Amino acid sequence: MKYNFISDRVKSIKPSQTIAVTSKARELKELGKDVIGLGAGEPDFDTPIHIKDAAIKAIKEGKTKYTAADGVLELKEAICEKFLRDNQLGYDIDEISVGAGGKQVLFNALLATIDKGDEVIIPAPYWVSYPDMVVIAEGIPVILETSKENNFKVTLEQLKKKITLKTKWIIINSPSNPTGSVYSIDELKEIGKILDEHPHVGIISDDIYEKIVYDNFQFSTLASIIPQHKNRILTVNGVSKAYSMTGWRIGYAGASKEIIKSMAKIQSQSTTNPSSVSQYAALEALQGEEDFIEKNNQMFKKRRDIISDIINQCKGLSVNKPKGAFYIFPSCSELIGSKTANGIVLKDDSAFCEYLIEEAGVAVVPGSAFGKKGYFRISYATSDELLIKAGNRIKDACKKIT
Ligand SMILES: Cc1ncc(COP(=O)(O)O)c(C=O)c1O
Repeated sequence: MKYNFISDRVKSIKPSQTIAVTSKARELKELGKDVIGLGAGEPDFDTPIHIKDAAIKAIKEGKTKYTAADGVLELKEAICEKFLRDNQLGYDIDEISVGAGGKQVLFNALLATIDKGDEVIIPAPYWVSYPDMVVIAEGIPVILETSKENNFKVTLEQLKKKITLKTKWIIINSPSNPTGSVYSIDELKEIGKILDEHPHVGIISDDIYEKIVYDNFQFSTLASIIPQHKNRILTVNGVSKAYSMTGWRIGYAGASKEIIKSMAKIQSQSTTNPSSVSQYAALEALQGEEDFIEKNNQMFKKRRDIISDIINQCKGLSVNKPKGAFYIFPSCSELIGSKTANGIVLKDDSAFCEYLIEEAGVAVVPGSAFGKKGYFRISYATSDELLIKAGNRIKDACKKIT
């Protein structure tokens, strides 16, 4: 008999395509090809020195042992203060969970709450990991298409049509990966009405890009807008993006005691706890000075403008200028289908992105990876010079498509 070690669970999920594009760009670079990688979902800035120093101090003080499964008390206290200070949200210590990145926190939350067959409504385009995490938890991702005309945001009417008795969660991500779109207070208030009508439904609010916003946009989070439903909202955040700490792996959530306790149970039987040293670095991130965030945002805004302007000059491409995160999500629908380049038919957005990497040496991620065909994602977390170079290469490559 042939051994079959690989589970159906693993066979039912896809590897992250954003990580795949980043790896492909790295591989081609190692082979000597001149490739500009615009695939990675992380700031190119270094972690600020005061945060690194806090980690070194923690090491020297011997804070190098196992910690409480879902985070040390000092960090949980700092997270409570952060929620109060930045979001006017009052969480108790036992309503906070810390994990190895927002990713693990979301993963724990879904595993802790989803039973086989439960549905999770995910507006598309979505962050690549949501549907697969739901599948791993044996739930059913219910994809809800949004349109460029509505800046890729869902409406209450659209949500109403997707709710069933099996719906457990709706995931809202603002500012969004991959589109950079943001929800206003009024839009969130409107969406929140779904919880009035459906007492069995909860909302996961993924706020990981909270602090990366432009054009005077004021970020708000759902639980502070509809506090009457706070117990049915899981607020996810983390230090990866705003503090340039992607490698440190610290994320956190605020939710009802019941959910938080169940998430800790899962964590205690999987990774035990997030890295002790990283937790002390995150503590400093949340309590230390934050002036650098505004400076970083000014640089990001300039880059957003540079790349959006070039993309809108490219034959067949168009993009809205978003107010958050460090991504743009241009449409390439006019350049795919029956159009050809170098004698090859660019049948879809994946073929278009393949063409960009081969012809222009620019690595971007196809929209289909985010559940939206006919688009692609550019991460502009790289230098102005590289962005201009990449943009001009894309422009030349688009001219050759006929
Ligand atoms: C929308 C969204 N949520 C959550 C995460 C998780 O980030 P981390 O695990 O680094 O905290 C990411 C990272 O790319 C993201 O884009």
